Amino acid sequence: MLNKLFRRNTERPNLMLAERISLVKNEMIPTHIAIIMDGNGRWAKKRALPRVAGHHEGMKTVRKITRLANDLGVKALTVYAFSTENWKRPKMEVDFLMRLPEEFLGTYLPELIEQNVRVEMMGEIDSIPPHTHAAVNKAMLATKDNTGLVLNFALNYGSRSEITKATQSLAEQVKQGKLLPSEITEEMLSQHLMTCSLPEPDLLIRTSGEVRLSNFMLWQLAYTEFWFTDTLWPDFDESCLLDAVESYQKRNRRYGGLKGE
Ligand code: IPE
Ligand code: IPE
Ligand code: MG
Repeated sequence: MLNKLFRRNTERPNLMLAERISLVKNEMIPTHIAIIMDGNGRWAKKRALPRVAGHHEGMKTVRKITRLANDLGVKALTVYAFSTENWKRPKMEVDFLMRLPEEFLGTYLPELIEQNVRVEMMGEIDSIPPHTHAAVNKAMLATKDNTGLVLNFALNYGSRSEITKATQSLAEQVKQGKLLPSEITEEMLSQHLMTCSLPEPDLLIRTSGEVRLSNFMLWQLAYTEFWFTDTLWPDFDESCLLDAVESYQKRNRRYGGLKGE
């Protein structure tokens, strides 16, 4: 079982990247990939660097993976950048993490625009610092008409809080007499989530060897294919993304039925 869950970069080691990309493009590409980018702190620790050096390095991985995902024809890439639980970390680390979107977008916004990428954000926007909010807003505005990949940052995001808020909003409609409790559907709940404009993820990737969801997209991942790797996020590269997509392409998605048997 674990062997199936953890695939290392040993699949098809002799194929060049370009050749692998073109082979992958011949098969079904996941429409939406969600990534729990984990292991930045351990990457830094291994090098006797401060944890924040790992977060900084992880930014470069976001750039690489965004480029390749866009090139493969992936429509949406959601990256978990900061959870509602990450406020528990030391203030210095939190402050650094809240500066990263500015740095990332300050450096890479021109190339995201050039690549036709649209920047989006989901999370509790009211409690992020104004400077972080401003940087993300600027990028969202500058890319709003782009038609390529949607790069969706999950920033100050927590799935339980998201579901709770959706429930409160539906309860409010019931209270106002606009809706009966029995009329509430799964579709309505989905439409009240922060992902209402996106399809559900086809593929979830988590790096660094942790095998848990850490409060990420609990509702949306109901039928998503999971792929875990020991690779730490700053070491994750194009070849790792291809490993994940190749694994996805071999899956038999049944949704409870018998499709593909
Ligand atoms: C992921 O790396 C980035 C965030 C959670 C913000 P970590 O900071 O969790 O790195 P590890 O898990 O401590 O190695
Ligand atoms: C999940 O990673 C959150 C992000 C990647 C932003 P964590 O490192 O915070 O998760 P736990 O604490 O190991 O569950
Ligand atoms: Mg972690």
